[in-house]
Amino acid sequence: MDGFRKEAQAAAEETLDPATWTDVQALSHRMVDDAVGYLRDVRDRPVWQDMPADVKASFEAPLPRSPAPLTEVYREVAEKVMPYPMGNVHPRFWSWYMGSSNFTGAMGDFLAAIQGSNLGGGNHAATFLDQQVVGWCKEMLGFPASASGTLVSGGSMANIIGLTVARNVKAGVDVREHGVAAIERPLRYYASDQVHSCHRKAMEALGLGNKALRRIPTDAALRIDLTALKAAIRKDRAEGFQPACVIGTAGTVNTGAIDDLRGLAGVAAEENLWFHVDGCIGALLAIAPDNAYRVAGIELADSVALDPHKWLHAPFEAGCALVRNAAAHRGTFAVTPEYLEMTQRGIASAHWLHDFGLQTSRGFRALKIWMALKEHGVEKFGRLIDQNIAQGHYLGTLIKAEPRLELVMPPNINIVCYRYRSEAMDGEGLKALNTEIMLRLQEEGIAAISDTTVQGRHCLRVAINNHRTRREDLELLVAETVRLGNEIAAA
Ligand SMILES: Cc1ncc(COP(=O)(O)O)c(C=O)c1O
Repeated sequence: MDGFRKEAQAAAEETLDPATWTDVQALSHRMVDDAVGYLRDVRDRPVWQDMPADVKASFEAPLPRSPAPLTEVYREVAEKVMPYPMGNVHPRFWSWYMGSSNFTGAMGDFLAAIQGSNLGGGNHAATFLDQQVVGWCKEMLGFPASASGTLVSGGSMANIIGLTVARNVKAGVDVREHGVAAIERPLRYYASDQVHSCHRKAMEALGLGNKALRRIPTDAALRIDLTALKAAIRKDRAEGFQPACVIGTAGTVNTGAIDDLRGLAGVAAEENLWFHVDGCIGALLAIAPDNAYRVAGIELADSVALDPHKWLHAPFEAGCALVRNAAAHRGTFAVTPEYLEMTQRGIASAHWLHDFGLQTSRGFRALKIWMALKEHGVEKFGRLIDQNIAQGHYLGTLIKAEPRLELVMPPNINIVCYRYRSEAMDGEGLKALNTEIMLRLQEEGIAAISDTTVQGRHCLRVAINNHRTRREDLELLVAETVRLGNEIAAA
């Protein structure tokens, strides 16, 4: 093409790239500087603050039709988004169950987006790195190298992967071809009554139905009762159902209880069931020197769900499903349409990673995990897990020593369930008082905790999955819970 034609064509064609990169470069440097300051000073800001009405209203602005300078767009982000986070990167965020992210991981996400690869698969560095991270997950849990795995959005999806392979392997018919209606005897899955709600969603999505997930009673420490499990399996067989899968939980969301995984592996082997472990909270205990013993037996599972966006603190989203029998895993999801056939050479000359899950296009979520693991080494992540568990136990002793507070369940790992007590109140009154404490802790920006009900008792719940938390933060939480409780009770 001659110079004149090239120029004329360039003038006519549009692109999303900037007309000149110099301004973008300067602004990007500012964004990175701001980002560093944001994390450096996170401790000085409130954990959470509600948005003023005008900020909330700004999110109802209509679809932008004409351009705005990027500096202006960034100004809006800096003013309207960054000051109002959920709060989970803050040292005193302990609500529900999340990791607290990390700067290197955030840079990983940025670089992954810049490189822009699609992890549907193919012959390029990102897919090899993705499989390396999956391999590291196997290694951390003691899974065989021959197992397969896939990075997904989080624990809920990782559990769905495991439960789907279990269904297809145990159905006795070709479910992929004929559907669940062709299954002769209805399948039954088993988990403790503490099982995470994502399993219910999975059972519903798999077409097996919520009722097919039998909730087995738990012991005093909220671990699945193996005798009750065996009895339930026997009863189901006698009634014409087909026991298919047992789900062990390594770290329940309410209290961090860890089922007897070796015991469950034994029952699964005796009864010919698939053994899946929901290790979203606790699978990574396997790398924590002082606490690895708690998940002994996880390496015996047929499939495991783990969550790098929890105890590896990967920025959202990052979950991982591992499956011992790689052929069964691939056999559950692989489809090869004519437009996705492998080639001998070139970009399509490596296995498609979309054969191991439900997504076709996949993000390059491995890079953020890879970079942070390389930077810190797995041993540091293991020590941080031990640190969070020691902090959980420390908080337990602080609560025990405080007459106005009571532990609702002795801490097992890093989850502490407690409540403010008042002689004058119980039941709904006490729940309202404790709920008010929780809300004021959030609204005053002091700490983010959540609540739950354990063995019928409503309580405040602190899940310390946070590499920024210090013991002084927990001391503050106890002092502020008592202050607020006293104030509310006296009002
Ligand atoms: C035990 C357990 N399983 C599954 C999940 C769901 O994981 P995700 O939120 O990553 O989808 C959670 C979330 O906290 C959990 O605690």
